Amino acid sequence: MWRDIEAEARRLLGTYNFREIRTPVFEETALFKRSLGQTSDVVNKQLLELVSSNEEGLALRPEGTASVVRSYIENSMDRREALTKLFYIGPMFRGERPQKGRLRQFHQIGVEAIGANTATPYLDAEIIALNVELLRTLGVRDFRLKINTLGSAQDKERFSGALRKALHADVAKLCEDCRDRFERNVFRILDCKNSDCRAVVAGLNPGHEHLSEESRNYYAGLKQILQGLGVEFEEVPSLVRGLDYYTHTVFEITQPSLGSQDAVSAGGRYNNLVAQLGGPQVDAVGFACGVERILLAMPAVPPGTKPPQDRLKAYVIALDQNVFPKAFGILQRLRRAGIAGDISYKASSMKSQMRAADKSGSRYVVILGEEEEKKGVVALKDMTTGEQREVKEEKLITILQG
Ligand code: HAM
Repeated sequence: MWRDIEAEARRLLGTYNFREIRTPVFEETALFKRSLGQTSDVVNKQLLELVSSNEEGLALRPEGTASVVRSYIENSMDRREALTKLFYIGPMFRGERPQKGRLRQFHQIGVEAIGANTATPYLDAEIIALNVELLRTLGVRDFRLKINTLGSAQDKERFSGALRKALHADVAKLCEDCRDRFERNVFRILDCKNSDCRAVVAGLNPGHEHLSEESRNYYAGLKQILQGLGVEFEEVPSLVRGLDYYTHTVFEITQPSLGSQDAVSAGGRYNNLVAQLGGPQVDAVGFACGVERILLAMPAVPPGTKPPQDRLKAYVIALDQNVFPKAFGILQRLRRAGIAGDISYKASSMKSQMRAADKSGSRYVVILGEEEEKKGVVALKDMTTGEQREVKEEKLITILQG
């Protein structure tokens, strides 16, 4: 299933013209702190830092966006093309308490589209539609797409101010973390899981009053395009996401059967991150899906309905130790001709070797005894029909390739 998911994702992302990028699994700690935000839980509580003998701090990557942006800047990708569309598939690490759907090492399939003057709701819509299509292609059903906008950096400032004002009277009711967040990053309070904080947040009803007209139009444009594409969504004004780099569009896709860790995928626009990390002022948008959560949300495939991907074609049996060298030679010739084969290294009884052949799932069994060797033939048994016949050794490859 892992391999099917990855193969299907690579195929689909290719049709949207995304190219694969591989970045190291660890980077300088400062990169994550500067990108994801000092006050985000991912940096504050979940960063797995490495003990190294040199001065610079290193940490296992908790997500892929920061590394892709680092690489984009380092390799001056902005000079190569107007819009860089990259995807990655790989492990991410967060020091969390493991539970169903929440792991310390998990895997993401993520995409990032980065380029100057590419902030158009069409690209946001393309990214969201791609995310939905990816999940659908992988067999995930009954998911919900939630969208919101945070507006520009200035809009976010205004939003923070408005939130602080609205929450001022209730600070004492918040959890310890959120009392700290009130000062340092008030957005985080909106997605705190603590029940007291949720009760306070429920009464807030955050709206879009803080948005500039431009931001409102951008968001309206996005919704219209999504509707045109037939992508169903739900607007959730309290959706702010847990990482600092977002501006304008944010979204999350949840699947209710997953329980408390119900987000299969999430993403959004981050127009200031590249510049903030020392690169050019370019716009960007992306998402990342959690592969383990996709697996949990996928319908279980009844055993036997899907043939194994690499079914063995030929299992070679030597009935006597004397003919083993010959049998081994045949096996190697088959493999060189591209036929997947294996052999039993123990010249045990025919019965036990046939049992091993059966267990291997091989389509054919190639049997060689002293009799066969003398005649220059092998016995070829078709494991699907049970039929066995003698074939000339030199015809074997052609028959098996057929
Ligand atoms: P994120 O919401 O932190 O966003 O993670 C994206 C997805 O990764 C989640 O929806 C979830 O499916 C999966 N995930 C996260 N943490 C865990 C965990 N501990 N165990 C299992 N699965 C997990 C990001 O990482 C952003 N970089 C997404 C993005 C890309 N935004 C723009 N571009």
